Amino acid sequence: MTFLAIVSAKGSPGVSTFALAATLSAPLSAGALARDHGGALARDPGYRGLPAAGSDVIPDNVRQFPDNARQYLDSARQFPDNARVSPDNARRPGPILLAECDPAGGSLLAGYLSRYDLPTDRGILPLAGAALRGSALQELSGLLIDLDNHRAERFALPGLTDPAQGASLAPAWSAVGEFFAGLSRAGWTVIADCGRLASGFPPWPLLRQADAVLVGVRPASLATISPAVPALAQLRRELPATDGTLALLAIGGGTSPRELSRHLMAPVAAEIAWDTSTATVLGGKGRGRRRGALMRTAARAVQATQALILSDRAARLQLPALPGGVIA
Ligand SMILES: Nc1ncnc2c1ncn2[C@@H]1O[C@H](COP(=O)(O)OP(=O)(O)O)[C@@H](O)[C@H]1O
Ligand SMILES: [Mg+2]
Repeated sequence: MTFLAIVSAKGSPGVSTFALAATLSAPLSAGALARDHGGALARDPGYRGLPAAGSDVIPDNVRQFPDNARQYLDSARQFPDNARVSPDNARRPGPILLAECDPAGGSLLAGYLSRYDLPTDRGILPLAGAALRGSALQELSGLLIDLDNHRAERFALPGLTDPAQGASLAPAWSAVGEFFAGLSRAGWTVIADCGRLASGFPPWPLLRQADAVLVGVRPASLATISPAVPALAQLRRELPATDGTLALLAIGGGTSPRELSRHLMAPVAAEIAWDTSTATVLGGKGRGRRRGALMRTAARAVQATQALILSDRAARLQLPALPGGVIA
């Protein structure tokens, strides 16, 4: 359905927390919502929110992989044949996958999932190996963590536990990106947390295949906004201008979205609430509210980004290409 990649600039933390909040709160009828933005469905997002404190959010299907996810895997297996999503396909909500692709290391295992005794042979590293071997689809079910107590709706691929492994993933980003794009065409929503752009090895080949790249920015002050300028310049150099959507995610309050957009010359896809109590729970500590502002704004951000992707695509289709490949 949608392949979103999220990055941040120096001085703007909050992308991993947002990615997890979005994964846990995105309504599963996202397919319908994307086509219905602004409509009745969009006003009824059906948040499931955080699991109750102390409840067992994990994953009986760390051991067993239920049928509905299998059904999506089967449809993913046919890509790129079913690359053009049929109206029927688009109506069926697919699973959502949080992929920790930060070369500097993931935060799920040490944070939100730290209470659980999880198998250690899952995550982005083995997935990268499988993608390079061309067997990612066959192996996927054994590499995921179910975040939603055997619902097979929300999954995670935990990131690296040792940042020293970051360089070793570099040759695999292209294959991993292709794989996520295929899952997305088969109805999945993939949210790839790609960490700070300033890291030594940003996953450029993966970012190039995303439907949208969101740049997390804290609009708190000039000092937090300024580092986004070189980050966006680098993204514009590295990503083809004609594909995908490049937009900002304003995390926390401060400069208005309109000002931020004007200053950084990129649209603001959404604003994410600064909500310390929910963020703390998502970091694996404390108790949180099931419907905290962070969860609500994160769910809305996914919908808003999907709407932005659609309107960008429509605009690209309508604009005539001028001679020399310049888009009018
Ligand atoms: N929306 C938010 N509201 C309040 N605190 C947040 C929010 N997002 C992140 N934080 C806090 O900021 C810190 C860094 O967040 P994290 O998501 O890990 O940053 P990043 O992945 O960008 O390095 C964490 O302590 C987290 O709890
Ligand atoms: Mg992070």
